[in-house]
Amino acid sequence: MYRSHNCGELTADNINQEVTLAGWVQKTRNKGFLIWADLRDRYGVTQLIFDEERTNKDVFKLAETLGREFVIQVKGTVIERESKNPNMPTGDIEILVTALTILNASITPPFTIEDETDGGEDIRMKYRYLDIRRNPVKNSLLFRHKVAMEVRNYLSQQGFIEVETPVLIKSTPEGARDFVVPSRMNEGQFYALPQSPQTFKQLLMVGGMDKYFQIVKCFRDEDLRADRQPEFTQIDCEMAFVEQEDIIQTFEGLASHLLKELKGIETGTFPRMTYDEAMKKYGNDKPDIRFGMEFGELNEVAQHKDFGVFNNSELVVGIAAPGCASYTRKEIDALIDWVKRPQVGASGMVYVKCEADGSFKSSVDKFYDQEDLKKWAEATGAKPSDLILVLSGDAHKTRTRLSALRMELATRLGLRNPEVFAPLWVMDFPLLEWDEETERFHAMHHPFTSPKPEDMPLLETDPAKVRANAYDLVLNGNEIGGGSIRIHDKATQQLMFKYLGFSEEQAKAQFGFLMDAFQYGAPPHGGLAFGFDRLVAILGGQETIRDFIAFPKNNSGRDVMIDAPSAIDDAQLNELNIKLNL
Ligand code: AMO
Repeated sequence: MYRSHNCGELTADNINQEVTLAGWVQKTRNKGFLIWADLRDRYGVTQLIFDEERTNKDVFKLAETLGREFVIQVKGTVIERESKNPNMPTGDIEILVTALTILNASITPPFTIEDETDGGEDIRMKYRYLDIRRNPVKNSLLFRHKVAMEVRNYLSQQGFIEVETPVLIKSTPEGARDFVVPSRMNEGQFYALPQSPQTFKQLLMVGGMDKYFQIVKCFRDEDLRADRQPEFTQIDCEMAFVEQEDIIQTFEGLASHLLKELKGIETGTFPRMTYDEAMKKYGNDKPDIRFGMEFGELNEVAQHKDFGVFNNSELVVGIAAPGCASYTRKEIDALIDWVKRPQVGASGMVYVKCEADGSFKSSVDKFYDQEDLKKWAEATGAKPSDLILVLSGDAHKTRTRLSALRMELATRLGLRNPEVFAPLWVMDFPLLEWDEETERFHAMHHPFTSPKPEDMPLLETDPAKVRANAYDLVLNGNEIGGGSIRIHDKATQQLMFKYLGFSEEQAKAQFGFLMDAFQYGAPPHGGLAFGFDRLVAILGGQETIRDFIAFPKNNSGRDVMIDAPSAIDDAQLNELNIKLNL
């Protein structure tokens, strides 16, 4: 038996008991005649004491050799501590050690295994197994497990069953590039790793499974960001014989359950907003509604004066930054520079200070009088002491830019409180999205999404106007889930592929299996997938999903610990009949 107790459970109730503990040496303090060591495991830290007078000489000597991160086993007696530590559960006691075994020595770790470590991101990723010993990472993984358990329990109780779908498949288009795997047995042919189990879960509905879920790895070769990893996890769900409302109710139930169980928060019914409304009010299809700063469109009140920049713009739009009228010229210039950065791309910004006495002072006083500016304040909801910031230009780009500014200001003003949770359904997404690069329409969600029946005729005349039965669940400005009602008949699916620019042969070659299945009594169905890593991170009060993944990739898609991806040897390439063209 390696241990009778773990390092987090002994208290004053255990005083005088003989115990055996095992774990890692967090740190030692050597006073010459007394040595203390903190012994750590997943459950906590227990203080050990070696006393020259009371501890066997050989044990004492061995204790003098202990270094950080040594793995040891000790036997000893639980005794009351002289100076208690009320901040730790085991703070009332210590173990007077009678026997010590060094199970494994450790070389000095490259960073301190403390909550506040001296190790930078890169070194911690290289030695992730040491990073995982630290409380912040360990606790994130424990939290992730807790969320997964809640999800599994909740969905099982609702009649969902977890079914595994294959990982070596054929391309499933979710808008990113595929990771591919060469097949040795089928020369010149490749599997694709699933971007999601989309087609399989639809086939499970054809198979009569009725309510499916899976906590499942997905793979997407796309540019990485704080909320994106090349391999990530979804809570993937699908239901048969449902309409959009059924899906929304079911998964709002799941999200509310998680918020209640894990955060103790009662949210009530989630608000809903159409995609068009979200874009108009927030310039973003995943608005953070924890704070206001809604867009105020100013075309009517700012155009047709002598200010040419606005007159020539498709859209003039502003937001009111609360309490920012006190910004100095320098601070405002810095904000203007911020929106002019290439990442945001504005060519300039107009501002209006709403003074406390109700007057206005703007950068365009030459063109607008107090009455004009009062109208701007009304349109943006600005109050005295607020600062109105106005951008203009192409409608879509201007909205996107102002949205970036809104989020930046909210962060600077401390309005994005991670302990406040504001879920939101965004509905009625456009079915199609014009892609400038390829000069054709793409499915905004994926090609299996059903158009709203009443918009079907528009497919011929004005495809960009067709709305889909598609919805996203947004939490604190992050898209944590998305789904749709699916097409479930062959003719409509065929038509959709046609509109997406597939030839009949291409559609058949790629998705013939799905369209064939639709001919054998496919039930109406729909579903959604949550981004599990994102959900866990946001519930955990953060937005960087890396911290909640045991072994994440870095921003170049590399695992720096195992050094992947890496070259493979010639024998392996030959076997796969692959010639590199480097
Ligand atoms: P979608 O592509 O919207 O839908 O993905 C669902 C959710 O997965 C999360 N997500 C990611 N998380 C981390 N890293 C990534 N690279 C990444 N990409 C996406 C997001 C997103 O909301 N098959 C459909 C679902 C359906 O229609 O049922 C799908 O995959 O939180």
